[in-house]
Amino acid sequence: MSDLSGGTTIVVGASRGLGHGIAIAFAQAGAPVVAVSRTAAEFPDFPGGSGSIRSELADGGEAAVPARLIDRYDPRTIILVGGATPQMRPLHEQTWETFSIHWESDVRIAFHWLREALLKPLAPGSKVITVSSGAALGAGGSPLSGGYVGAKATQRFITGYAQFDSDRAGLDITFSTIFPKFAPTTGVGRAAIPVYAAASGLSEEEFLRPQGPLVTPEIAGKALVELAQANAAAVAPAYLLNGTGLHEI
Ligand SMILES: NC(=O)c1ccc[n+]([C@@H]2O[C@H](COP(=O)([O-])OP(=O)(O)OC[C@H]3O[C@@H](n4cnc5c(N)ncnc54)[C@H](OP(=O)(O)O)[C@@H]3O)[C@@H](O)[C@H]2O)c1
Repeated sequence: MSDLSGGTTIVVGASRGLGHGIAIAFAQAGAPVVAVSRTAAEFPDFPGGSGSIRSELADGGEAAVPARLIDRYDPRTIILVGGATPQMRPLHEQTWETFSIHWESDVRIAFHWLREALLKPLAPGSKVITVSSGAALGAGGSPLSGGYVGAKATQRFITGYAQFDSDRAGLDITFSTIFPKFAPTTGVGRAAIPVYAAASGLSEEEFLRPQGPLVTPEIAGKALVELAQANAAAVAPAYLLNGTGLHEI
C-alpha cells in the first residue's frame, strides 16, 4: 500500500460527476490533489489532514496543459476522467461534429496526458489511470451515442500503448484503464440512460434494475483510491467498475 500524502494526484475532469467524487476521495485519503477542469468547482475543506484540493482552470485537451501542470506539480498519480456528454441520437441524425465530440475531448485528453507522462517522464512508481466506459467492452457498441464507444475503446488502446512504451524504456510507470458501468447521477449517465431506457420500452428504473448496485462518484472515488494505493505489481491493465467496486478484466 502506498501513502498518497507523499505525492500530488492530478484529476483531469474534476469539476463535476465522477471526477469530482474521485478528487474528494483522494483528498480524504490524504493526497494533495490538483483538480483540473475548464469551469470552476466547489470542494469541501479538509481540516486537520494532509489532504487538500487545489483547482486549476484549464482545458485538459490542450496540448500544452499536461506539460505545464506536470512540471509544476510533479504528480505521482494522474487520473484522466474528463470527457464530453454524448449527443444522444441515431447515426443518421449525427453530424461529423456531434459524432466526433469524444474524439476531440476524451481521446484528446488521454493522448496528450499519456504522451507527456512518458516524455517527462513521471517518477518511477507513478500511476496513470484512464476512465473509459463499460460500454466499450460490448461487441455492439452504443448505437445511439455516435462516436462515444469507439472513442472510449481508443482510450483503452492508447493507455495500453503507454504501458508498452514505459516497459520498453524501463520507466516503472503503471497505466490502467477503468470501465465504469452506468452512473445515473452524473453527466454522461444522465444523458444516456433515459434514451436507452426509452429505446428499450422500459422506465429508467426497469432499465437500470438488472445492472445491480450502480456507480456513484463516492464509489468511483473509493475504488480509485484503493487502486492508487495498491502495490504496482498487483495492479491489472483493466478493471470493470460497478456499484460493488473494481473487478479485474
Ligand atoms: N456517468 C456514466 O454513466 C459513465 C459511464 C461510463 C463511463 N463514464 C465516463 O466517466 C467519465 C466521467 O463521466 P461523468 O458522467 O462523471 O461526466 P460529467 O458529470 O459530465 O463530468 C465531466 C467532467 O469532465 C470535465 N471535462 C470535460 N472536458 C474537459 C476538458 N477538455 N478539460 C478538463 N476537464 C474537462 C468537466 O469539467 P468542465 O466542463 O468544467 O471542463 C466535468 O468535470 C467520462 O469519461 C465518461 O465517459 C461515465
